[in-house]
Amino acid sequence: MWLRVLVQRLSVPEPPKGNLLSPASSSRRGVPFFYDKSEAEFKADVYERYDELVTRQTALHLADELHQAYPFQPLQNYIRDHLSVGDHLKVADVGCSVGRLIGDIANANTSWDCYGIDLSYQMLRQATDFWVKGASLRPNLIRYGWGTPELAGYELTNLSFALAKGELLPFPDASLDVVINTFLIDRLPTPFAAFAEWARVLKPGGRLITASPLNFLQPEGWRTAHPPVKILSHLQQQGWSIENWTDPLPLEEPMDVRGNSVRWACVAFVADKPS
Ligand SMILES: C[S@@+](CC[C@H](N)C(=O)[O-])C[C@H]1O[C@@H](n2cnc3c(N)ncnc32)[C@H](O)[C@@H]1O
Repeated sequence: MWLRVLVQRLSVPEPPKGNLLSPASSSRRGVPFFYDKSEAEFKADVYERYDELVTRQTALHLADELHQAYPFQPLQNYIRDHLSVGDHLKVADVGCSVGRLIGDIANANTSWDCYGIDLSYQMLRQATDFWVKGASLRPNLIRYGWGTPELAGYELTNLSFALAKGELLPFPDASLDVVINTFLIDRLPTPFAAFAEWARVLKPGGRLITASPLNFLQPEGWRTAHPPVKILSHLQQQGWSIENWTDPLPLEEPMDVRGNSVRWACVAFVADKPS
C-alpha cells in the first residue's frame, strides 16, 4: 500500500513553469516585452546604460568573489527569513535588474515558478544570459580596479524574465504567492500606485516583501511616502497586514577594489494581503 502511495506521489506531474505570462507583443534576444518602450524612453533610461549601471549591478550582485561574500547578504537573509513556504509557489521579483535575488530563490526552490520583471532591456538581457542561458559573463570592471572577472552562469528552468512596468504587471489577478521588490519604490513616480498593482496580482493571503532606502528620485515620492510611517499607514488603510517592519536594514554597496562603498539605510517590510 505504502509503495503505491509513494509511486503515485512520485508520478504527480510538475505544474508547467513560466505559463503565467501570456504571449508578449514582441521580444528581443529572448527577452519578452510586455511594455512598448519607445526609443525616447530607452534613451532617457539610465538603467539601459550597459557600461554604467548594468556592469555596476553585475559587480554588486553576481560577482561575490570580488568581495569575498555577497554584499547584499543581509537583504537576502531578510527575504529568506520571510519567504512563504510550500511547494509550487509563484514568485515575482519586480525591478529585479540582473536577477540575483530571484535567481537564488529559483535555484533553491526548484518546484517554484519564478519571474524577474524589470523595465530595462539591458538588465534583463544580462539576467537571462546568466540565469537561464548558462552564459559566462566577463564584465569590464577595470574602471573599479576589479579587472574582468569570469562569472559562470546557471541554466534554471523555473525562472522567466520579462520587460514590464512594475506598476502594470503582465500577470492575471490573484495569481502570485509572493511579490518581492528591492531598491525599486524610490525609483517610481508614484510608489503607492505600485502597491495597488501588487495587491491585484497577489492571491488572497499572498505576501509582499519590500526593501528600499527611500532615496526618492521624484518630489512625489518624498511627499507621499516619507517619513516611512506614511507607507505603513497607507498599507494598513488598504487592508494589508504588516507582518514585519524593520527600519533601518543597513546595507553596504562596494564601489571599487579599494573598499570605498555607499551605505544605504533601507526600510524593509513584509505585508500580507487579506485572505
Ligand atoms: C536601483 S535598481 C535595483 C535593482 C535590484 N532590485 C537591487 O536590489 O539592487 C532599480 C531597478 O528597477 C528597475 N526599474 C526602474 N523603474 C521601474 C519600473 N517602473 N518598473 C520595473 N522596473 C523598474 C531598473 O531598471 C533597475 O533595474
